[in-house]
Formats: sequence, structure tokens, C-alpha cells
Amino acid sequence: MLRRDTTMTDQDAGLSAAIREVLFDQATIAARVAELASAIAHDYRRKKPLVVGVLSGCFPLMADLVRGIDVPMEVDFMAVSSYGSGTSSSGVVRILKDLNQAIEGRDVLLVEDIVDTGLTLRYLLDNLQTRRPGSLAVCTLLDKQEARTERIDVRYVGFRCPNEFVVGYGLDYAGLYRNLPYIGVLKPEIYAKP
Ligand code: IMP
Repeated sequence: MLRRDTTMTDQDAGLSAAIREVLFDQATIAARVAELASAIAHDYRRKKPLVVGVLSGCFPLMADLVRGIDVPMEVDFMAVSSYGSGTSSSGVVRILKDLNQAIEGRDVLLVEDIVDTGLTLRYLLDNLQTRRPGSLAVCTLLDKQEARTERIDVRYVGFRCPNEFVVGYGLDYAGLYRNLPYIGVLKPEIYAKP
């Protein structure tokens, strides 16, 4: 017979034990991503966009989004590290992986998991703009407008997000929780753990 301790650790209870509140469940995310994909397909119907995912947080969104965009496109990725404390960004960004191709004259759509202060995106947009793309637009799943310090035009927004630290569907805390299929607010005591 299988016996279980009465005191379950977080690990026993699964990832959801670390979540205080679910903000966007799987079905809600899927429906909204499909809407974003249709809007993007419409806007880029006569173009051949280069859709650029910003790793690592973009990976579930990119996979779901591009499969809904029914136009010829290419896909590429950048990886950046943004220096800061555990839950806030400093604006100092380092490119860990650059694009595999030149973007001069291309219609580039940058795909982000979340825009918070906007510092990371500001850096990326300024950097990509120097490469003279034909157009450069941004799609983000989550927009934390309250935290914004940079003025940035984000053309496609999945959801407005409250100014709380969220995880799941690609978003991490200390590298964890990216594989949660929904987006939720992490319990504050999780940051406090040594
Ligand atoms: P920004 O430079 O302040 O806009 O922050 C951008 C990056 O910080 C995002 O691409 C995420 O990697 C990370 N980030 C900001 N807010 C959150 C959050 O609530 N959960 C997880 N990561 C976040």
C-alpha cells in the first residue's frame, strides 16, 4: 500500500502549491493568443515577417502564437540577460544570443512574455533599430503598465497585468515555474526562502 506523509512539502504538492492566485488560466490564454495571432496574420498578410522571440520566457507563447499566424514567416530568437535583483530589472541588458540573420528591410515582430518597466525592451528596440529593419513592432502577452518607466509602443498586448510578480507559461522565478500551463501570482513567502 502507498503511504504518504501527512505533512506535504511544496514539491509533493506540485508547482501549484507556490501559487497564491491564478490570473490567467490555460483556456483564457489559448483564446487570447489565438486572437493575437489572427490580428497579426491580418496585419502582416502581404509581408513575410521575421518573428523574433526573446528567450527564455517567450517559448510557450512563440510556439502557440506562430502556429496561429497563417502567413509565410520566418522565426528567430534572441536571448538577453537583464541584470537586477530576483524580481526587478535594472535596465542593464546583455545579449547572450543574437539573431542568426540580418534584418535590414525586414518586417520584424518582437515577441516578449512580459513588459514591466520596459527597460529590456527599450534596449532591444534601440539595438534592433540600428540594423535598419523595414518595420519593428512588439507583441507581448502581458503588459504591466503600472511599472512602466519607458515610453514604448507595444502594438499587440495579450493582457494587462497587475503590478505583481507572476510566473508560468514561460515566466520564471529563479529559473523555476516556466512549465506551469497557466499564469499566476507567486506566494510572497517563496521569494523569502533562502
Ligand atoms: P522590464 O525590463 O522591467 O520590462 O522587464 C522585462 C523582463 O523582466 C521580462 O522579460 C521578464 O523576464 C522579467 N519580468 C518582469 N516582470 C516579471 C514577472 O512578473 N514575472 C517574471 N518575470 C518578470
